[in-house]
Amino acid sequence: MPTVYVTRRVHFNAAHRLHNARRDDDWNRSTFGPCNNPNWHGHNYVLEVTVAGEPDPETGYVIDLGTLRSIVEERIVRHVDHANLNLDVDFLAGILPSSENLVVAFWNRLEGCLPAGHLHSLKLYETERNFAEYRGE
Ligand code: NI
Repeated sequence: MPTVYVTRRVHFNAAHRLHNARRDDDWNRSTFGPCNNPNWHGHNYVLEVTVAGEPDPETGYVIDLGTLRSIVEERIVRHVDHANLNLDVDFLAGILPSSENLVVAFWNRLEGCLPAGHLHSLKLYETERNFAEYRGE
């Protein structure tokens, strides 16, 4: 049977600040640049969730993408959309909210929640040009 990869793309808007409290202000400013702004800043994030599996013989689907949309909404988007990622999100407590760390945290929110197929990759775009990808490795 063929393995097919299907993807749902979702959007959310959120504020964050990249700051490592174990380092001094100069280190933080030079390391994180504008993302260290003390009064926060926002991104229009795009998250792509890719599920791998064999098409079901009766539906032709790897996973119903409407179902996948609902799961991503429930497990991730409703918690982070229009939120401050440093302050507002329980499952991000204590996590420096870089795209790399966010995409791993999002993976942990979705793993084991899919009714069909298996989670293959998450891509989190912080800007059009910058994104992080995680495959659960
Ligand atoms: Ni930023």
